[in-house]
Amino acid sequence: DADEAATLRTPIVAVLGHVDHGKTTLLDKIRGSAVSEGEAGAITQHIGATAVPLSTISEMAGELVDPTDFDLPGLLYIDTPGHHSFSTLRSRGGALADIAVLVVDVNDGFQPQTEEAVDILKRTQTPFIVAANKVDTVPGWNPNEGVPIQESMEQQSERVQGDLNERLYGIIGELSDHDFAADMYWRVQNFQNNVGVVPVSAMTGEGVPDLLTVLMGLSQRYMKDEMQIDVEGPGAGTVLEVKEAQGFGTTVDAVLYDGTIREDDEIVVGGLEAPITTDVRALLQPKPLEEIRTDQAFEKVPEVSAAAGVKIAAPDLDDAMAGAPIRVVRNRDRGRVIADVEEELAEIEVTTEEQGVVVKADTLGSLEAIASTLDEVDIPIVRAEVGDVAPRDVRVAETAEEEKHEVLLAFSVDVLDDAKRLAEQEGVRIFEHDVIYRLVEEYEEYVEEMER
Ligand code: GTP
Ligand code: MG
Repeated sequence: DADEAATLRTPIVAVLGHVDHGKTTLLDKIRGSAVSEGEAGAITQHIGATAVPLSTISEMAGELVDPTDFDLPGLLYIDTPGHHSFSTLRSRGGALADIAVLVVDVNDGFQPQTEEAVDILKRTQTPFIVAANKVDTVPGWNPNEGVPIQESMEQQSERVQGDLNERLYGIIGELSDHDFAADMYWRVQNFQNNVGVVPVSAMTGEGVPDLLTVLMGLSQRYMKDEMQIDVEGPGAGTVLEVKEAQGFGTTVDAVLYDGTIREDDEIVVGGLEAPITTDVRALLQPKPLEEIRTDQAFEKVPEVSAAAGVKIAAPDLDDAMAGAPIRVVRNRDRGRVIADVEEELAEIEVTTEEQGVVVKADTLGSLEAIASTLDEVDIPIVRAEVGDVAPRDVRVAETAEEEKHEVLLAFSVDVLDDAKRLAEQEGVRIFEHDVIYRLVEEYEEYVEEMER
């Protein structure tokens, strides 16, 4: 009922999967937008957030969803690029994503970033469903725009059905290899023990009603108790992105996963050097169904409640870090809140050694992911930081005792011109890549070559 809905937190749904498997297109279908088309090379470079109200969900799900069955206000979708920043989103202050959709292209099946995503979901014990996407590409498929998937499957030829089933069972097999008992969603009785696979086409919308229904059911059943949190309390969130906004200077795009944030609140934000304490100047909310990443017409609001994407304008945000925590102080002790933020930042701090490579990355989450990848292959790190590659980073790399450590690994950041020049001058090798395992692989190949 309405009273209850008011105190329930909007569940956060993370959409993840291998690059190009259709995460953004699937969200586009749900929100009726074309974000994917506007992306450079149709590649998602940043994490996005979109609020999808219950009314939209029930409209799309048609007869599969009766809105009066639900007392959740809707869903907040988090779009992730391929995989790399997902750990940022999962991070800090408990599970940011309550549930997840793992998108798998039925043609490609499991790919490296699908594997990585499954590992993250397993580690964080996040309930998820699988969207087996691009069913429309099965040769001979007859599209049925926007209809439930079983209805559409029945209308396909025997051969097409067989072909699709084979691919779906391939995906179910891969999930089983990762210790997840999975089945077609309509055969799953208990989503707590089994992963439901929903065949969909983000292009034609087939299966999207099913996907939304299963998601709402999952959120309702397993999240409700946890959602009954105090949405009036001082807000907690995570920085998605730090960026300029016309008329507001440096702002942070954040996901608020707990409590509220108000226009007159004092906040503490994790910064490059130290936590930043500042006063909110304005709260800008993307409209429902608008992607925070691309929305131009933010609405200025006095207050935002979890879960929501919000752009926060405040002085002194230049050193805020993507992936860092944000806390509202309100009537709490400021010192305590700062200590909390410091503690959380310390938890994600990367262990460094006396000797090793220098790592720079775009977010705390990606830094963490690279550090753990390097750790797996016994490559030590001497310095790990968020931000573009600057001359001082080159200076650190240059002092390495071993030649193989005179390098910089740069993930999804810019290399400043003077840093580039200095690196050339000092013979410091800079590796750049926007796929973590490729970055590490390239460096490993370089070391192998050197030791040959
Ligand atoms: P990253 O964000 O870069 O990881 O990719 P993504 O998973 O968001 O993929 P995106 O939505 O950008 O889609 C990649 C390509 O696949 C685009 O050209 C889409 O048009 C296409 N595509 C996505 N879903 C479908 C589908 O269901 N059917 C067909 N035929 N094409 C699809
Ligand atoms: Mg995308």
